[in-house]
Amino acid sequence: MENQNNGTSKGKALLDWVDARFPLSKLMKEHVTEYYAPKNFNFWYFFGSLAMLVLVIQIVSGIFLTMNFKPDGTTNAQNLPVAFAAVEYIMRDVSGGWIIRYMHSTGASMFFIVVYLHMFRGLVYGSFKKPRELVWVFGSLIFLALMAEAFMGYLLPWGQMSFWGAQVIINLFGAIPVIGPDLSTWIRGDFNVSDATLNRFFALHVIALPLVLVGLVAAHLIALHEVGSNNPDGVEIKKLKDSNGIPLDGIPFHPYYTVKDILGVVVFLIFFCGVMFFAPEGGGYFLEKPNFDPADPLKTPPHIAPVWYFTPFYAILRAVPSFAGTQVWGVLAMGAAVVLIALLPWLDRSPTKSVRYRGPIFKTALVLFLISFIGLGILGAKVATDTRTLVSQILSVVYFAFFLGMPFYTKLDKDKPVPERVTMSTPKQKLMFFVYVAITLIGSYLFAVYI
Ligand code: HEM
Repeated sequence: MENQNNGTSKGKALLDWVDARFPLSKLMKEHVTEYYAPKNFNFWYFFGSLAMLVLVIQIVSGIFLTMNFKPDGTTNAQNLPVAFAAVEYIMRDVSGGWIIRYMHSTGASMFFIVVYLHMFRGLVYGSFKKPRELVWVFGSLIFLALMAEAFMGYLLPWGQMSFWGAQVIINLFGAIPVIGPDLSTWIRGDFNVSDATLNRFFALHVIALPLVLVGLVAAHLIALHEVGSNNPDGVEIKKLKDSNGIPLDGIPFHPYYTVKDILGVVVFLIFFCGVMFFAPEGGGYFLEKPNFDPADPLKTPPHIAPVWYFTPFYAILRAVPSFAGTQVWGVLAMGAAVVLIALLPWLDRSPTKSVRYRGPIFKTALVLFLISFIGLGILGAKVATDTRTLVSQILSVVYFAFFLGMPFYTKLDKDKPVPERVTMSTPKQKLMFFVYVAITLIGSYLFAVYI
């Protein structure tokens, strides 16, 4: 007992020593043990911490991959590109290399699944609205950086889809008037996707963009903790406080939400391991078939499609017809589809945050938006036909109408009164949630099969 007390006091002395030099206890209090979060967080609030987990998984697995990877587009004695052969070497000869590689490739898709669900939560509960505009803007910048990070990472294994995907996307910059052609040459560092492109994408993928991402995530969380978390009711818990200044509907992040998040992490890791061990190609969507062939600049694959997380935006690009031989309008539409997400805080004019208390117009618009986004995602992965192009055009109009019509329909809508205090969801609400998920999954499956 005495020994234990001795240990505790030594620990306390060490902490005091650190605190006198670095605000460790202060930071822990501010951001963890005395950060008061609303007590009604639900399923949707798992995805912020899961996004952080995947970021760590990607950085750690990426460091180990880098130890054995060679960003070299020239060919070796077996006439294979060195980068492609390096990935094969990691998969077959490096001890534990296969698991590290599959962790990283599965992690990329998981990152987008988690981030899309995280963004959707923000959309349904109005977490982008005042006072959280900057949380949302930092989030949108994270999304942009994440897309760049994934795009550059996909070139590295130097397979057929790496090469041709990069070729198609970089050529899009060529559609920009006046500077376009020079810009795409500048990005590639050559007149074609080549060794120079691979080298610079490697540098950007392993160091520049991860630094940007980590910095943005820090800014995202600092901004969030400054204003406090939103919740499924969209009620500002800071408005009602007890005599100690603690929000009446707030609970300390630790231990309540650390424990909740551990449950999310365990369930998520089971799912993650399931994919990693049993279906790392994700049915050809996480790792595309042509990427198991080495890059060949002389052989275009019959169907070039980006990885699934880019397909909604790719479908918008393809839906816009080229005028006078230029794709510039399609490129602009694709860019606008991303930029509009960042502008949400200024497009939404409703005083109500959460979908629970929004009027019928917003609810309908939200469902149509979800249908358009999933529909475009499915169409963007498929070979274009006349019918599919037409459906993509209709869904693109729905996608843009959701954002551009928002300043008008959110003003007209008949919202319900928002309660003073947060509420806990009822069993009926929980059941309805699963019904919605089931309808979305079955609907998407049927659409994918029949379109
Ligand atoms: C690497 C990617 C990201 C990480 C690690 C991350 C992390 C987090 C964390 C830990 C939280 C607090 C916990 C939670 O509310 O779930 C949070 C909240 C939030 N994030 Fe992110 N985030 C990321 C990307 C994004 C993106 C792309 C957006 C939107 C464009 C976004 C928008 C938000 C919003 C609005 C909140 C506040 C939610 C609320 O209080 O209801 N985040 N984020």
